[in-house]
Amino acid sequence: MKNLEGRVIIVTGGSGGIGIVASELMAERGAHVVLAELDGTRAETEADRLRSQGLDATAIQTDVSDKGSVDFMVKEVSTQLGRVDGLVNNAAMFSRVPMSRVGSLEISESEWDKMMEINVKGVWNVCSAVVPVMKTQKYGKIVNISSGTALKGSPSRIHYVTSKAAVIGYTKSLAMEVGEHNIYVNCVAPGSTLAEENPTPEIIAVREKAASTRCIKRVQRPEDLAGPLAFFMGPDSDFITGQTLVVDGGSCLH
Ligand SMILES: NC(=O)c1ccc[n+]([C@@H]2O[C@H](COP(=O)([O-])OP(=O)(O)OC[C@H]3O[C@@H](n4cnc5c(N)ncnc54)[C@H](O)[C@@H]3O)[C@@H](O)[C@H]2O)c1
Repeated sequence: MKNLEGRVIIVTGGSGGIGIVASELMAERGAHVVLAELDGTRAETEADRLRSQGLDATAIQTDVSDKGSVDFMVKEVSTQLGRVDGLVNNAAMFSRVPMSRVGSLEISESEWDKMMEINVKGVWNVCSAVVPVMKTQKYGKIVNISSGTALKGSPSRIHYVTSKAAVIGYTKSLAMEVGEHNIYVNCVAPGSTLAEENPTPEIIAVREKAASTRCIKRVQRPEDLAGPLAFFMGPDSDFITGQTLVVDGGSCLH
């Protein structure tokens, strides 16, 4: 299937667990993927790996919480590749930029602020840079990554859950704002996904426990997200906007 042929798609945090697996699938479907990633070295390594397979990929070191860095990245993409058809807002403070998994009273003010800077302001920064380009093209597809925890709640890491709930509201409002320009904005909410590079026994136990809460009783992997994300980047989702798709094997039924 080559239904993303010719599309330029930016994936923030594109060399992380879910980001790189989704980027690879979209590149296999014909897209030129841009890995806009805080860890520039890892992004270069992954882009090289994709290119060695004959796929189209570019790495650009980017900090989504820094407006200047984001504006530079989007300008580079527009200049070098001529267009921006898709954006996956995947970067987050999660495992590669780790967060504390503690109760609300134990979270420091600086970690709360950092969470909002990356997970909420980061999404706004990248959308604000990409939407004007998409408006001139009269077409564009954006998908923001939330989390099932935003719909279900969680007894720890309230800063993360709050940030991911904000992403859902942001998605709905931006979809209303830009629909007249033929720009689609959706959200994907993953369940607990084994996406860590070297997962500790504790992390594996958390991911295995999540499997028991699902209709489909197995551990979720990045590959489970790649297809739904590619769907939102392609023509098959051309009459869907403002929606949140929960991809978690049927744990949160909404
Ligand atoms: N894995 C899960 O269980 C799970 C569940 C629900 C939602 N999610 C969401 O899915 C997305 C991907 O998660 P993952 O498991 O692959 O996590 P991850 O930590 O492996 O990937 C996130 C990527 O974002 C990058 N990043 C962090 N801060 C950045 C910044 N300021 N600028 C640019 N890049 C930055 C990281 O370097 C990393 O490559 C995240 O939005 C996460 O919140 C994950």
